[in-house]
Amino acid sequence: QHSFLGHRAIQTASSRPVPNFAFAFDIDGVLLRSSKPIPGAADSLALLKEQGIPFILLTNGGGKHETDRVAEISEKLQVPLDASDIVQSHSPFAELVKGPDEASALEHKCVLVAGGDGDNCRRVAEQYGFKNVVTPGDILMANPAIWPFSKNFSDYYKTFARPLPSPIDPNNPAKSLKIDAVFVFNDPRDWALDTQVIMDLLLSSQGRMGTLSEKNGRTDLPNHGYQQDGQPHLYFSNPDLWWAAAYPLPRLGQGGFREALEGVWAATTGGPSKGIELKKTVIGKPYQPTYEFAEHQLLRNRLKTFGNSTDLPPLERVYMVGDNPESDIRGANSYRSGFGSSWQSILVRTGVYSGGDPAYTPHTIADNVHKGVQWALKSSK
Ligand code: G3P
Ligand code: MG
Repeated sequence: QHSFLGHRAIQTASSRPVPNFAFAFDIDGVLLRSSKPIPGAADSLALLKEQGIPFILLTNGGGKHETDRVAEISEKLQVPLDASDIVQSHSPFAELVKGPDEASALEHKCVLVAGGDGDNCRRVAEQYGFKNVVTPGDILMANPAIWPFSKNFSDYYKTFARPLPSPIDPNNPAKSLKIDAVFVFNDPRDWALDTQVIMDLLLSSQGRMGTLSEKNGRTDLPNHGYQQDGQPHLYFSNPDLWWAAAYPLPRLGQGGFREALEGVWAATTGGPSKGIELKKTVIGKPYQPTYEFAEHQLLRNRLKTFGNSTDLPPLERVYMVGDNPESDIRGANSYRSGFGSSWQSILVRTGVYSGGDPAYTPHTIADNVHKGVQWALKSSK
C-alpha cells in the first residue's frame, strides 16, 4: 500500500503542470535586512518550493562565492538552495576569465580586485578562475607610502595581504607591477586607499604602477589622452547609490564609491564637463546584461528541474520582487527578454522604498515579500 501510494504520489507530483511563470527575488530589503530574515520571506520561498514554482535570487550584493552565500541564506530562510539559485553583483565577471576569445581572456592577466571584507573577493575571483589577483591591501603593505594615512589600518591589511607578483618600481617602469584590469567586486571598505590606487592606474602608462602616461592631458587625443595608453579597464559590479542595511535610513552602496571616484577623476582631468568621460563598465541591476544573465540561469535551472522535454511550456512571466525602485523596479520594467518572457515588478516596503510615488512605477506595491508573492500567484491564475 505504502509503495503504491508512494508511487502514485510521485506520479502526481511529476504530472503537476510545469508553471509558465517564475520569480526573481532581490535579497537586501526583501528577504533579509542586514542578514536577518524579513517576516514572511521564509514562508514565501517554502510555498514556491512546495508548489514547484521556480525562483532565482538576484542581488547587487556579493563579497562571497555563490556557494557560500546561498549556504548562509539557505540556513537563515530554511530553504534548500544551491549556487545556481543565486546571481550576485559579480557573478557575470566569471565569464571574463576565458572571455569571448583568447586575446581578451583575463585568466592569466594581473587583475586588481577591490571591495569586500579582507581578501574575500580575491578568493572569489580565484574561484572563478582568475589566476593572478592583487588587492589594494597587497599594494599598500608592499608600499606603505602609496597612501600616507595607512598606518591606522595596517593591522587589518597585514592579516590577508600577499606579496606582489612584481615590485612597484617607478624608476624601472618596464618592470614595475602591471595591472591589466580593475574590478570592484563589492562595496569598498577603504574608499581612500581604493580611490588612490585606482586613480594611480587610470593615470598610469600601460597600467604600470608608479608611472604617469605622457598622453594624459593631450587635447589632440580623444578623451584628452586620458585612458589612451593601455591603462586597465575599470569594471564595477553594482550601481546602487543606496541600499537597505541595519540603520533605519538607506546607506551608501558601491554606487556611492563610484560617484566619489568620478569626483576625483573630474577634479584631476576636467571630467565630463570637459568631455573627458571616465571609461568604465558598470553591471548589476538595473542593467540589461545582469537581467539577461539571471534569466539565462533561471531557464537552465528550469531545464534541470523539469527536464528538457519538448512539451516544457515556455517561461512566459517572471515576477521581480524588489525594494529599490532604481535597481529592481527600473530593471524589471525596462528588461527586454530575448527568451520571450515578460517581467512584472513588485515593490515592497521593507527596504529602500518607504512610501510615496516611487521614481519607477511597479506593477504593484506590497507591504512585504509574502504579500507580493500572494499578489503574483493570484495574477498568474
Ligand atoms: O551591496 C548590496 C546592496 O547594494 C543591495 O543588495 O540584494 O538589495 O540588490 P540587493
Ligand atoms: Mg534590495
